[in-house]
Amino acid sequence: MEWIWNYILCSVLIGLLSFLWHLRSIRYNRKLPPGPRGWPIFGNIFELGNLPHRSLAALKPKYGPVVWTNLGSVKTMTVLSAAAAEELFRNHDLSFINRTIVDTMWSHDFGKCSTGSVPYGDYWRTLRRICAVELFTTKKLNETKLIRQKCVDNMVLWIQKEIKERGSTGFELTHFVFPALYNMMGNILISRDLVDPHSKIASEFYLAMAGFLECMGRPNVSDIFPWLRWLDLQGLRKRMDHDLGKTIEITSGFVEDRVKQRKKKEGRLSESKDFLDVLLDSKDTEKDEPVKLSDHQIIIFLLEMFFGGTETFSATIEWAMSELLQNPAAMIKIKAELARVIGKNSKLEDRDIDSLPYLQATVEETLRLHPPLPLLIPRKAVTETNFMGYRIPKDTQVLINAWAIGRDEERWEDALSFKPERFLGSDVEYRGQNFEFIPFGAGRRICPGISLAHRLLPLILGSLLYHFDWEVCKDVHGKGEMDMMETMGTTAKKLEHLIVVATRCA
Ligand code: HEM
Repeated sequence: MEWIWNYILCSVLIGLLSFLWHLRSIRYNRKLPPGPRGWPIFGNIFELGNLPHRSLAALKPKYGPVVWTNLGSVKTMTVLSAAAAEELFRNHDLSFINRTIVDTMWSHDFGKCSTGSVPYGDYWRTLRRICAVELFTTKKLNETKLIRQKCVDNMVLWIQKEIKERGSTGFELTHFVFPALYNMMGNILISRDLVDPHSKIASEFYLAMAGFLECMGRPNVSDIFPWLRWLDLQGLRKRMDHDLGKTIEITSGFVEDRVKQRKKKEGRLSESKDFLDVLLDSKDTEKDEPVKLSDHQIIIFLLEMFFGGTETFSATIEWAMSELLQNPAAMIKIKAELARVIGKNSKLEDRDIDSLPYLQATVEETLRLHPPLPLLIPRKAVTETNFMGYRIPKDTQVLINAWAIGRDEERWEDALSFKPERFLGSDVEYRGQNFEFIPFGAGRRICPGISLAHRLLPLILGSLLYHFDWEVCKDVHGKGEMDMMETMGTTAKKLEHLIVVATRCA
């Protein structure tokens, strides 16, 4: 009989413990932000779909500005309003300063070496300092303005040639913008054209880079269920190992060539230095830096700067031109402004940008409606944090929905319309102080490339509009309104690429 009593006692005890555990987890979860229930194991991944920034934005009316979801086994907090973003960046920036890193980024230790993914600390600070001092100060930007101009001039020449050869046939705008950006970053970083029909190595680099960016932007089961990483079910890690491996191999060839050149020229290094020279100098210097970059870290840093400055810019120009083609009145205003400031038979130059407020406002309005990184770069809670009355556990993934915030009707009048005028005479800027407009993020991890974007985006868009008249290719986009949906990869690009017909301005 005694065993029966023991059995009953054990069952009661287990029942009581489970009940207490259940009560505790209810209380524990109660302190999390609200959000949809989701499925066992899968959580809310089915609700999020291919455009998570849109699906998450749609949760705000029901759950408020801070929403909790489970993306498979990844616990995620999403910030959906300017006020919540301000609270996060002003009062909790350090608590959410690290990044969640997707599986493909672990390939070749990319995630351990790149500015965008490494944890906050000495190594990150070193990379940020090099970016700030060696690439993006006013002095450095002035030094590289001829490179930017040359690449934009080439883009204009390529389009003129296309028009001459193919008449009024439509072409994809990004086919001309993207290579120009590639060469621009190639020349700023390593003094090389990286799109060159006569160079085999350049074409290989271009293809491998495209493959590696595609892998990085694809949704991956391994990120939703990290315990399945080892299986690499979609083969993305394997592809990334190959494509990233190829870009690393080619870039290390560029670096070795440079090291040899530098040895030959030793003692007479008077010529102007590019970014690679600066990185190699910092490696050789006797100075006691807290962190010295290894060859591998230099290569990853170069690659990161490279893709930071190509995809985002190209996507923004395509969105800007698409919006202008839908809003001809805005297009006419920019053209009039360009004619007034630059006159005829000339070209747009870096020094003109400050005198073109409507062009700048157009770029701002484009970034408000179409931030290339709609959820910024995901962050991670460093410690358990009390955020707006919620208890956010350590390691929670944190998404800041810049796309939703830029379209918030409470902050923006007629929020969904494209109206560059709203930025004329306005104090609202994208430099991380106005939390209703954060296409470059905010806080300590704000994008370091803003000053380059500020000069380059108007230069490219303005040059396209100064030299050519544009029409939508009606055979492709039809006669009605153009489809303005996006697709998510490493950036939010236009789903249906913009096909245009250009004619040279009279
Ligand atoms: C239209 C152009 C660009 C846009 C919209 C953009 C946007 C962003 C955003 C939203 C972030 C995340 C910020 C955050 O977490 O708060 C970011 C980070 C970053 N961006 Fe950009 N970016 C652009 C151009 C560039 C350029 C030209 C470069 C470099 C050549 C660059 C390099 C980086 C790097 C290295 C980071 C990581 C910063 C860190 O984690 O500390 N970006 N960018």
